[in-house]
Amino acid sequence: MLIKNQQKLLEQLLSSVNHEQKIWLAGYMQGQIGTVNANTATGIPNIEKPPAIIYFATETGNAKGLSLQVMKAIKAEGYKVKTSAVNRLKVKDIKPDTMTIFIVSTHGEGDPPESALPFFEDLQNAGDGQLNGLNYAVAGLGDASYEIFCGAATKMDKELQRLGGKSFQDPFLFDVDYATHTSAWIGQTVKSINDLVGANTSVAEETLSLEEELIVRTGKGYTRLEPVKGVVKHIVCLNDIDSTRQTFHIEIEYEDDIIYTCGDAAGVMLPDKDHNGDNTPRLYSISSSPSYHEGEIHLTVALATHENEDGGMGYGTYSRYLADRQEGDEIEFYIHQNQIFNLAADNKDIIMIGPGTGIAPFRSFIYERSERGAAGRNWLFFGAQHMHCDFLYQTEWQEHLATETLHKIDLAFSRDQTHKVYVQDRLKEKAKDIVEWIDNGAILYLCGTRDPMSKDIDQALIDIIAAQKSLSPEEAANFVADLEENDRYLKDVY
Ligand SMILES: Cc1cc2nc3c(=O)[nH]c(=O)nc-3n(C[C@H](O)[C@H](O)[C@H](O)COP(=O)(O)OP(=O)(O)OC[C@H]3O[C@@H](n4cnc5c(N)ncnc54)[C@H](O)[C@@H]3O)c2cc1C
Ligand SMILES: Cc1cc2nc3c(=O)[nH]c(=O)nc-3n(C[C@H](O)[C@H](O)[C@H](O)COP(=O)(O)O)c2cc1C
Repeated sequence: MLIKNQQKLLEQLLSSVNHEQKIWLAGYMQGQIGTVNANTATGIPNIEKPPAIIYFATETGNAKGLSLQVMKAIKAEGYKVKTSAVNRLKVKDIKPDTMTIFIVSTHGEGDPPESALPFFEDLQNAGDGQLNGLNYAVAGLGDASYEIFCGAATKMDKELQRLGGKSFQDPFLFDVDYATHTSAWIGQTVKSINDLVGANTSVAEETLSLEEELIVRTGKGYTRLEPVKGVVKHIVCLNDIDSTRQTFHIEIEYEDDIIYTCGDAAGVMLPDKDHNGDNTPRLYSISSSPSYHEGEIHLTVALATHENEDGGMGYGTYSRYLADRQEGDEIEFYIHQNQIFNLAADNKDIIMIGPGTGIAPFRSFIYERSERGAAGRNWLFFGAQHMHCDFLYQTEWQEHLATETLHKIDLAFSRDQTHKVYVQDRLKEKAKDIVEWIDNGAILYLCGTRDPMSKDIDQALIDIIAAQKSLSPEEAANFVADLEENDRYLKDVY
């Protein structure tokens, strides 16, 4: 490859330098070449690179998406790297010889995501010094409009320090516009790891130009920082007059060029004059289909009530605001994307469990599937108090059944008989079919209130799997956890 003269010069040079100078030269040459990876450039000595792992704690998938991007960038530097949810992680399984990154989102009121709670408990119970020698970094995803910004990430960092871990980079806390800052953070993280290991950083430009790969849409209409305005086209109470509940179906028309997908929520904002200091937006699952109801989002909003101190009726701030809207009123909102709770591929069977307002995303799913002519079968479980006044969207479901867009429906009206019947009881009655569908590749969806509904459904699924597959409770719980980790059991609970 070299011409005669160059060959001679190189031989002269090499014969005059010692071992250390040769290593320096190798680094110098790599620097000259620029973007070539240390591992792939022939003739350049490899620096021993430790394995790396990125753990994520997520509710709506942002932390998972970010972890996949970091993985890609670190891999491009020649590291062996993988990602994993923290769901079943134990402190004792964390390996101090592995570069470890945690990406943690915050939910509730400064809390970790539901699926990360067992790991946080394990962290708190672990003894000081148990992670001596661990090099780690933490990134937090949050929303600065909440009182405790990125509380879960901050807590995790504190615990890791207490356990003896050493952070190789200060924790980075992302606000809702995180997607616009991730490239810089990823670049910095890769460099920090390389610096620690003593390797050169060769992150090529193309590795970090991640924007086009981000499923996360940014800018106007996608965070509370830049909401859009829509106009109420139609609002109706779905419950009949003698119900104890009021659930409003609200159709909002918009003109902005925003995109949402089935499973996303709308973040509703209150006008300044109405929020009384409470200006944290509330999320509502979108119950319309982007293809079928073009230019509109539909919401299914239960009016939240409580008893005031004086014994009078009190109302939730945002649901009351929405319930009071009239046709023609303006509403400010943004699309809150959900990266995990997505409608399955057309050929997959789906089982949707959505009591109460949990029904909302499934209305979206079914219209979307009817529009696409999806081949997969659709099975819905719905529950409420009384059939005659609380069967939300009853006529629509009946039509979907008639047109075979909906293949099966099971209903639990808790107060229509002397003993209470809930959706989980219906699931148990259909245990054999459910397991058959699951074994056939069906995706399970659960939406609605977290407590106690989603916990009861989790338990019912574990019982069903244990009984039908003759597994121990522990094995069945693992089976359900596997489904969840493999995106076969998706939850959107609040
Ligand atoms: C991803 C996601 C999707 C969601 N989807 C939906 C949906 O599709 N439909 C839906 O209806 N909701 C949905 N929610 C819930 C919704 O975001 C709101 O939490 C809900 O509407 C209550 O908000 P609010 O402002 O009306 O009540 P808040 O004012 O936040 O009050 C919360 C609760 O406390 C009670 N309360 C308030 N003040 C007092 C007091 N002084 N004493 C006692 N109790 C009091 C209220 O009655 C209410 O029950 C979703 C939430 C999430 C996170
Ligand atoms: C119901 C709810 C509660 C939240 N509570 C907080 C909070 O207390 N503090 C915070 O910083 N962010 C909070 N967030 C914002 C999330 O952390 C943020 O949207 C993040 O990007 C979600 O990441 P994930 O998709 O990985 O779950 C909350 C979001 C939701 C939907």
